[in-house]
Amino acid sequence: MIDYPNSLNILVMAVLAIILLADESWQQDHSKKIIPVRVKVSLPTAIISIGTDLLIPYSVEGNPIPSVTWYKDGHLLQDNERTIVTENLLIIFRTNASDLDYYTCKASNLNSSDETTVNIITMESANNTNMGNPR
Ligand SMILES: *[C@@H]1O[C@H](CO)[C@@H](O)[C@H](O)[C@H]1NC(C)=O
Ligand SMILES: *[C@@H]1O[C@H](CO)[C@@H](O)[C@H](O)[C@H]1NC(C)=O
Ligand SMILES: *[C@@H]1O[C@H](CO)[C@@H](O)[C@H](O)[C@H]1NC(C)=O
Repeated sequence: MIDYPNSLNILVMAVLAIILLADESWQQDHSKKIIPVRVKVSLPTAIISIGTDLLIPYSVEGNPIPSVTWYKDGHLLQDNERTIVTENLLIIFRTNASDLDYYTCKASNLNSSDETTVNIITMESANNTNMGNPR
């Protein structure tokens, strides 16, 4: 005769053991994967023509997953109808003179942080800067 309560106990213990093992290996995996936060932006300077759309690719590494914030000249960058920040792109549609500025991407988690700045300039100001260099 089958002893139902006993086989049920064994089943419950087996299920609990599997859950505990899975949980432990998940935690080990998780702690192994601590990755320092790193922000990469495609270029330190973006040279644009006023009126065109601008796409700046960027990437953020890190574990635990860092939070990411963009700043324009040190002030929180506001998403608006022309400015959109996605997971890997800063997009400014129909650029105008107000968009020429320093944009900083900051990312941080509990363990580390990083930031990278991109300067948006026009071809004209790029040429002026070069002319200003005594060389
Ligand atoms: C640029 O566009 C914004 C609206 O997105 C406007 O508020 C601002 O005055 C414009 N700046 C210039 C210099 O045209
Ligand atoms: C990351 O930060 C947490 C919380 O401050 C800390 O417990 C942990 O030891 C840190 N890990 C590393 C690798 O710095
Ligand atoms: C800037 O200089 C480049 C060559 O260095 C030239 O082709 C371009 O026309 C110049 N642009 C302006 C706006 O002066």
